[in-house]
Amino acid sequence: MATGTVVIVGGTQGQGRELAQSYADDGRDVVVTGRDQARAQAAAGEIGGSTRGIGFDLAEPHAIADHLAEVGDVDHLVLAAIERDVNNVHEYDIDAALRLVTLKLVGYTEAIHALTPRLGDESSILIFGGLARDRPYPGSTTVTTVNGGVTSLVNTLVTELAPTRINAVHPAIVGDSPQ
Ligand SMILES: NC(=O)c1ccc[n+]([C@@H]2O[C@H](COP(=O)([O-])OP(=O)(O)OC[C@H]3O[C@@H](n4cnc5c(N)ncnc54)[C@H](OP(=O)(O)O)[C@@H]3O)[C@@H](O)[C@H]2O)c1
Repeated sequence: MATGTVVIVGGTQGQGRELAQSYADDGRDVVVTGRDQARAQAAAGEIGGSTRGIGFDLAEPHAIADHLAEVGDVDHLVLAAIERDVNNVHEYDIDAALRLVTLKLVGYTEAIHALTPRLGDESSILIFGGLARDRPYPGSTTVTTVNGGVTSLVNTLVTELAPTRINAVHPAIVGDSPQ
């Protein structure tokens, strides 16, 4: 019986939350994270079982390791967090782009870095990108760019963290949010 923790970064709502709920229903030790501590703990309480919440902002990567310091051995790490920006090259919003690029590419990598010592050979990492990688939509300049970056991040992690399994998933539209 797997005993390690399932960590879902971006597990307070949406697809991350659905995954957290299914693992909690299986009796697993689950950690869900979001930007706000109280909101993450509230979501954990609603999910139930042995679920706990941790609040940290992926767009502030220097603080991530301290927030994850209490997490034990990790069986599965899911990176699903997203803060959507609407951006295009004609009216380019630099600050919004910096936040999303930092969140998805640097924040995700730092969360993995912080938890690497607690990953085992049987552990796995799942990283969420999105089909906007291949099919841009109006306003998806940064989203399309970072989703492409997710693919390359997997390419380097599979060699750096072998034999830990690393996968990405690039959903199409789920619910009512374009991605
Ligand atoms: N939904 C779609 O149609 C779709 C399509 C393609 C790809 N995707 C991808 O699938 C993943 C999940 O999408 P979703 O729509 O299910 O997500 P969602 O419902 O929008 O939830 C986003 C999650 O990310 C957390 N989050 C947001 N900003 C954050 C930040 N700065 N730092 C840390 N956590 C942050 C939120 O927590 P708090 O709000 O509690 O802070 C929440 O748990 C995303 O990576 C997205 O790119 C989604």
